[in-house]
Amino acid sequence: MIKWKRVEELNRGDVIVENISGANASDSIVKYGDLVNEELIRRLQMRGIQWVSVLQKPEASSEIIPLFTEEKIGYFETQINDVYEQIVVEKRIDIEKTREISKEISESVAKNYGAYIWPNLSKLKQMDDYTFTHQVNVAIIGSTLAFEHFGGDLELVNRFTAGGLLHDIGKLWIPPEILKSRERLSDMEFNIIKKHPTYGHGIAKQSGLEDTVILNSILYHHEQWDGNGYNEGKKGEEIPFESRLMMVADVYDALTTIRPYKRAWSPYEATTFLIQETKKKFDPFIVNLFLKVFGLYPVGTHVALSSGHTGVVVGNKTGAVSRPLVRLNDGQNTILDMFVDRGVFIKQVLSDTSQLVVN
Ligand SMILES: [Fe+2]
Repeated sequence: MIKWKRVEELNRGDVIVENISGANASDSIVKYGDLVNEELIRRLQMRGIQWVSVLQKPEASSEIIPLFTEEKIGYFETQINDVYEQIVVEKRIDIEKTREISKEISESVAKNYGAYIWPNLSKLKQMDDYTFTHQVNVAIIGSTLAFEHFGGDLELVNRFTAGGLLHDIGKLWIPPEILKSRERLSDMEFNIIKKHPTYGHGIAKQSGLEDTVILNSILYHHEQWDGNGYNEGKKGEEIPFESRLMMVADVYDALTTIRPYKRAWSPYEATTFLIQETKKKFDPFIVNLFLKVFGLYPVGTHVALSSGHTGVVVGNKTGAVSRPLVRLNDGQNTILDMFVDRGVFIKQVLSDTSQLVVN
């Protein structure tokens, strides 16, 4: 929050949000973006300045918390692992258990979703964990987007969450050597992969699942907005809403995860891809919804600011697409709320963190 403060009341970590100079403009006493420290306070006092406009350093308690704890995410992964193992053995989905996991994920989202959010995803521990981390991450993204879109209708949000958990279930019937191949897939192999939505849809129906949100998430999550996807080459709004949403969640998580054949893209690179492919692969409405929640500069993005600072994005204010919360590399971990401090803008995304300079 920006405040007028007496110089003797300034705290280390407050950020100056005005330019103050002496008799002529080149005699700068403090400038916009300067961080308060003892030397700066002395300088102001020596020049007889009594009041100054600052962005106050937030209290530790006002820092945002992640939507999920790491333990919670680990727990979800173990639970969905059990559901998948049971599918392999019994050839049916434990729908009740899937609904319970979905409910817990959606409830965590509802509990921790505020004006500022930190939508965190599972970090891959080993390559083999991919199946389960991916299902949980797509469920988390699906749940968060559905929560933003449908508000308090938790029952409906749960159905999107379950769709995320089960969307790729048909991959259990695809030979692992194809799924994990490091080589470029032959046409024949790719045609086999393309069958996973149909396989998954079949096992879901066999298990007695009738929820259209979940069934459509499984069957149509590879359909593209421009009609170039599979299974049926549906286009635009012919594709069910939940399937268009799952497509975005699925691709974002796949891109940001390390796989045998590719590096993990940064969240910023993956977001840029979503934007580039809008109206080709993705529904523009869903990409907008994604940006509203995850921001243009997702959590973890290293940035250089117009104030001269560098820092890392630690949260997003819902809807403030390009004005995240940034933890500055100032030795004091000052949190800059760019939504409040409108004068600072992001000059550059630093892909190589060795570019980071501690100010
Ligand atoms: Fe898939």
